[in-house]
Amino acid sequence: MTYNIDSSIPGWMSERDLGILAKISSLCPEYSSMLEVGAFLGRSTYPIYANKSKASTLTVVDTFEPTAEYNPDSVRLATKMHGDPDKIEQALSASRASMSWQAGFELCLGEKICSKLDIHACSSQDYVKTTDFDLVFIDGGHDQETVQHDIDKFISPTNLLIGDDFGMKYRRFKGLINAVAISKLKHNRTLLCPADSRLWILVPNSGHWYHTLGNLL
Ligand SMILES: C[S@@+](CC[C@H](N)C(=O)[O-])C[C@H]1O[C@@H](n2cnc3c(N)ncnc32)[C@H](O)[C@@H]1O
Repeated sequence: MTYNIDSSIPGWMSERDLGILAKISSLCPEYSSMLEVGAFLGRSTYPIYANKSKASTLTVVDTFEPTAEYNPDSVRLATKMHGDPDKIEQALSASRASMSWQAGFELCLGEKICSKLDIHACSSQDYVKTTDFDLVFIDGGHDQETVQHDIDKFISPTNLLIGDDFGMKYRRFKGLINAVAISKLKHNRTLLCPADSRLWILVPNSGHWYHTLGNLL
């Protein structure tokens, strides 16, 4: 089975992790609702979008704000990203011109895909949740408080939560790792951390995701 990923889109996720996201998205039942927190230029959005069933919906929440950490003028930021060099330059220049990463996100994903997304340019804290999502990908703020907030806000008894940056640079992502470990205990979930991957996955104890991933263990 092959999955759709687009590694030309700028970002930091490895092709292996884009493939895992693609596979998880393809395992969602029809009519699922999916949420991505922290999309940046759409590198992770694409595999979730391109491998979901047509009837499933994808909501995207990102501040899209240029900040000291995400500064479109930063040469360091640009050189550390994976992706097609021309696309990186175009995305940075569009985001600089409009003073929002949303312009780069739209450029990288294209109008056809963006018109099918429910995009919210706000923080996960300000986002008004009106429904539970079946699949949630968390890659927004990486400090402990924000990761804990995102998990507690979006977890439901049967949904699957996935997030990025568990591991490798332990010091840098210590807060994130703490929040995930605390959540594993607090919400009594199975925690999966695949090899050669930075993804963390909290699997519920009932429902579709339990039967697909959790009851193997
Ligand atoms: C690591 S980047 C996301 C990378 C993206 N998932 C990818 O694979 O290319 C983090 C993103 O989260 C956004 N962000 C940071 N804090 C946030 C918050 N509290 N709520 C929503 N988005 C946030 C930033 O604007 C940035 O675009």
